Amino acid sequence: MTETLDIKITKTLKSRLAETDFDNLVFGRTFTDHMLVADYSDGEWKNFEILPYGEISVSPGISSLHYGQSFFEGIKAYKHADGKVSIFRPDKNAQRFNKSAERLCMPPMPEDIFLQSLLAVVDIDRNWIPTAPGHSLYIRPFMFATDQYLGVAPSLSYKYMVLLCPVGPYFTKALRTKIETHYTRSAAGGMGYAKSSGNYGGSMYPAKKAAEEGFDQLIWTDAKEHKYIEEMGAANAMFVLDGKLVTPLTQDTILDGVTRDTVITLAHDWGFPVEERNVSVDELIAGAKSGKLTDAFGAGTAATIAPVGSISYQGEEYTLIDPSQREFSQKVLKTLDAIRYGQGPDVHGWNCFV
Ligand code: PLP
Ligand code: COI
Repeated sequence: MTETLDIKITKTLKSRLAETDFDNLVFGRTFTDHMLVADYSDGEWKNFEILPYGEISVSPGISSLHYGQSFFEGIKAYKHADGKVSIFRPDKNAQRFNKSAERLCMPPMPEDIFLQSLLAVVDIDRNWIPTAPGHSLYIRPFMFATDQYLGVAPSLSYKYMVLLCPVGPYFTKALRTKIETHYTRSAAGGMGYAKSSGNYGGSMYPAKKAAEEGFDQLIWTDAKEHKYIEEMGAANAMFVLDGKLVTPLTQDTILDGVTRDTVITLAHDWGFPVEERNVSVDELIAGAKSGKLTDAFGAGTAATIAPVGSISYQGEEYTLIDPSQREFSQKVLKTLDAIRYGQGPDVHGWNCFV
């Protein structure tokens, strides 16, 4: 049976809403007035609280700072024209939250409690949700170890928090990408399928090197042979190749994206052929050369549907067809926007109303 989560609420005395520049939002830089915090100790979650957004005090000895016992989620809430607020598929994130927790030896958060925590904090800051096209409220739940202990062992205490950021589009233009054939994001047996903080820390150096060469994003390949496509930056890689939606299988090296699943479901709805399988670099490049690669995009919560403008491999750059001419991803974007902003039917029940 569902239990109602008891949350202590302390509202801010001075909202920052009026002084926030919603026309110039930079992803992840602006936080709303409130945040949610909870503690885990003695084998249970407790002290759920919504507080004014602000600094927290932790010991410098907490093991998350030293050994990275920490992970996060990313979800979006949307405001509809009639003022209703919905969160997109948070049940999927609740499940993945616990997959990440298990991989990192951290305690699970009951899915229902996770959902209630999101609903409560989004409700309090619902006036912060931007309504301009492509805008939303990014929800960042995360968990980190809080034992003061420098031994390499799972902590016994943890903090769970939820932060909120009004955001616009993460990418504003088609991406110049490079197929990475030296560095790896994750290896078989590793943590690629978890939203472990360390996965992102480790991706920054190769991404920085690629940025110095003028690239916007890396297309990650398998750690062993660098022959197969894995992901695109912090998004799943999706292609239309030879008239089929093709995307790498999500084994343990790849994050099982909610957006990826959403795109696949829409493709099935439309009778568009889908192949979830290993995608080789060779076939992708052959498709780019022959024109059979008619669509390529990153799919993710922050990224939404981010078109790939060009792909570079072994010093050659292959420019793809203009994003505005791509039938599949344009249809996906249109359909998704209609669902999320409440302008079209939500046949799968993806909107969770606040
Ligand atoms: N892959 C990685 C590494 C990511 O960080 C993300 C972003 O969350 C995704 C894929 C896409 O997942 P989702 O669509 O659930 O946001
Ligand atoms: C998300 O899309 O939620 C992500 O995790 C990407 C983020 C690292 C900006």
